Amino acid sequence: MAPATPFLPTATDEKTLRPSFIRDEDERPKVAYNQFSDDIPVISLAGIDEEEEGEGGEKRKEICRKIVAACEDWGIFQVVDHGVDAELISEMTRLSKEFFALPPEEKLRFDMSGGKKGGFIVSSHLQGEAVQDWREIVTFFSYPIRARDYSRWPDKPEGWKSTVEWYSEKLMNLACKLLGVLSEAMGLDKEALTQACVDMDQKVVVNFYPKCPQPDLTLGLKRHTDPGTITLLFQDQVGGLQATRDGGKTWITVQPVAGALVVNLGDHGHYLSNGRFKNADHQAVVNSNYERLSIATFQNPAPEAIVYPLAIREGEKPVLDEPITFAEMYRGKMSKDLELAKLKKMAKMEQQEVLKKAGEVTAQPKALNEILA
Ligand code: OGA
Ligand code: NI
Repeated sequence: MAPATPFLPTATDEKTLRPSFIRDEDERPKVAYNQFSDDIPVISLAGIDEEEEGEGGEKRKEICRKIVAACEDWGIFQVVDHGVDAELISEMTRLSKEFFALPPEEKLRFDMSGGKKGGFIVSSHLQGEAVQDWREIVTFFSYPIRARDYSRWPDKPEGWKSTVEWYSEKLMNLACKLLGVLSEAMGLDKEALTQACVDMDQKVVVNFYPKCPQPDLTLGLKRHTDPGTITLLFQDQVGGLQATRDGGKTWITVQPVAGALVVNLGDHGHYLSNGRFKNADHQAVVNSNYERLSIATFQNPAPEAIVYPLAIREGEKPVLDEPITFAEMYRGKMSKDLELAKLKKMAKMEQQEVLKKAGEVTAQPKALNEILA
């Protein structure tokens, strides 16, 4: 018997959300997908490659200053005049849209559940986690080149291979250029951050957020920081990327800017700068009017790369007790997330138990913190 097709958010016209997508109240969106903020700076990179001496040097210094300030402030900024061809981005967008519009069985030929390296997955959510994200993704492991497994790169629609190769190379170059700016700001050689990654990994994740019947109850992608060094995100004009600086109490929605790339610093970048540069705390919300597409390109250190501050400023303590490998850092992050998810699940079960005992049938469920108090 053929296995049952899993539920795909793209393939439903249900008017209410399935329970597996409903978030606890404290995790639900607080700000609308299209209530845009201009708190995140948009920085033009025109002139960043100028000679460091003379007038060009001044221009370059000014750009670097803006980038550094944004990294200290939010760990997020947007770049325009970044040198990645508009045509290339629109080709990536076209292929992505055509892919997600394929029938479920075509996409599921590249199903990556069970730990396969690359392909399609309905909604990435941690094992053991109760709530699913309202998104489908397709992922390409693109660097190091020797580790590319083209059998995991979808073959439909035609043209993925050359386009993703071209795109991933362009974005790797841009990411390294930005890391050069941050290295210099830390008083180090331009290559310091890239070298600390040993052999840089790169993963391209295309996120597709279908229209959602009850967007206020769910998230496209739950709150997180990216684990790696630096992420470049292309988003369409719909809106949905949100950031917080106070642990999720208040949120802003990043204003989509045509042709721009959003730059997010990850945990690795944060640790290497000894906490000077923020790791962007972010999520994606969905809506009932439009589907949304974003393409995230993650630059990560090699698994064996050492994670430890490269520069510790006077009067500062290191943010890490001891050097660890990126693989260890990643495992630690995952198990902490899993632990939190389990605690949450248990608290929820307890809550249901208490409500059952109280013979609750009609009353509103109590807030979690009221019961646990
Ligand atoms: C991610 C991410 C945000 C978005 O893929 O890690 O944060 O807007 N995506 O899709
Ligand atoms: Ni992210």
